[in-house]
Amino acid sequence: MHNGTTITQFLIEEQRRIRSASGDFTSLLNDIVTACKVIANAVSHGALVGVLGSQGSENVQGETQKKLDVISNDVMLQSNQWAGHCAAMASEEMEEVYQIPAQYPRGKYLLVFDPLDGSSNIDVNISVGTIFSILRCPPGIDNPTEKDFLQPGTQQVCAGFALYGPCTMMVLTTGNGVNGFTLDRNIGEFVLTHPKMQIPEDTSEFAINMSNERHWEAPVKRYIDECRAGKKGARERDFNMRWVASMVAEVYRILNRGGIFMYPKDMKDPSKPGRLRLMYEANPMSMIVEQAGGVSSTGRERILDLKPDNLHQRVPVILGSRNEVERVVKYHKES
Ligand code: F6P
Repeated sequence: MHNGTTITQFLIEEQRRIRSASGDFTSLLNDIVTACKVIANAVSHGALVGVLGSQGSENVQGETQKKLDVISNDVMLQSNQWAGHCAAMASEEMEEVYQIPAQYPRGKYLLVFDPLDGSSNIDVNISVGTIFSILRCPPGIDNPTEKDFLQPGTQQVCAGFALYGPCTMMVLTTGNGVNGFTLDRNIGEFVLTHPKMQIPEDTSEFAINMSNERHWEAPVKRYIDECRAGKKGARERDFNMRWVASMVAEVYRILNRGGIFMYPKDMKDPSKPGRLRLMYEANPMSMIVEQAGGVSSTGRERILDLKPDNLHQRVPVILGSRNEVERVVKYHKES
C-alpha cells in the first residue's frame, strides 16, 4: 500500500495556499493528469491494441503523424474541453487554435501541448512523453485566436510533462519549484516521489544530435569540441554523451543528474532557426528547468523572454546545468 502524497492531494494543498483560488486551475490540472494516464495506457499496450505505426497523414510541420500522435491529441482535447476551465487549446498536431465546442462553457485558461513528444521513438519502444503549458486567456476575450496565445514563456501559469518510460512520471511546476510524481498503476494515481527537483550546477554530460555537426555555428562547435577533447583538452576532464531523441527523456535525466541538452540553431535548413517548437516544447521545458535551478537559452537570449510570433515557431534550445549553459552563452557572446 502506498503512503505518499498523491498528485490530487498535492494539487489541493497547493490550491489552499492561494486564498483567491477558485479550484478551476486544480480541476484543469486534474483533467490533464487523467489525459496523461489514458495516453500512458495506450502507449504501454502498443502493438497489442494496434496503436503503433503511421496514421498516413502529415501534421502542420510536414511530419508524418503516427497513430499515437493522433490518439494522444484526441485524448488531450476530449479530456480538457468539457469542464469549463479552458478558453481554447493549441497543439503541435493542429495548425489552428482549437475552439471549445459550443455545448461546453469556456474558462479562463489557454492550454498548449505537444501530445506525444519524441514520436520517432514510439514504434521502437523508447520513452516518449506529453508536454503542456498553461497560459491565462487575456481579459475580455471570448473567442481566443492565435494572437491571444502568443505570450512570452514568463507568462506561463504552469508547465509540465508526462514521461512514458519504464515508469510513467508527471513533472510539474506552477512557479514554486518542480515536483515529480510516479504513476502507481495498482491504484491508478501519481504519487509524489521526487519533491523539489534541483538540477546540479555542474555536469560532464552533454546531449546533442551529433549528425548535425557540420551545420552548427562556431560557438556550439567550439563547446562540443572542447567536451570531446576530454582530459587533455581545454576542459581538463572527460565528458559523456547521451542522445535519446525524446526531449522529455533528456530533460528528465537532466533534472535528476544534471547535463546540458542542445538543439541549437544550425544551417541545415535556413528557413528553420532550430528544430524545437517554442510554445509547446521550449517554453514549458524552460520554465521547468529554470524552476529547478537550471538555465535555458537560445544561445543569445533567455527562451522565456522571447515574444512568440506564431503558434508553431521554432527556436534554438540550449538548456540544463547552469555552469555549462552559461559557458555556451558566453561562447556565443565572444564569437
Ligand atoms: O520533435 C521533437 C523531438 O522529437 C524532441 O523530442 C527530440 O529532442 C528531437 O525532436 C529529436 O530530433 P532528431 O530526430 O534530430 O534526433
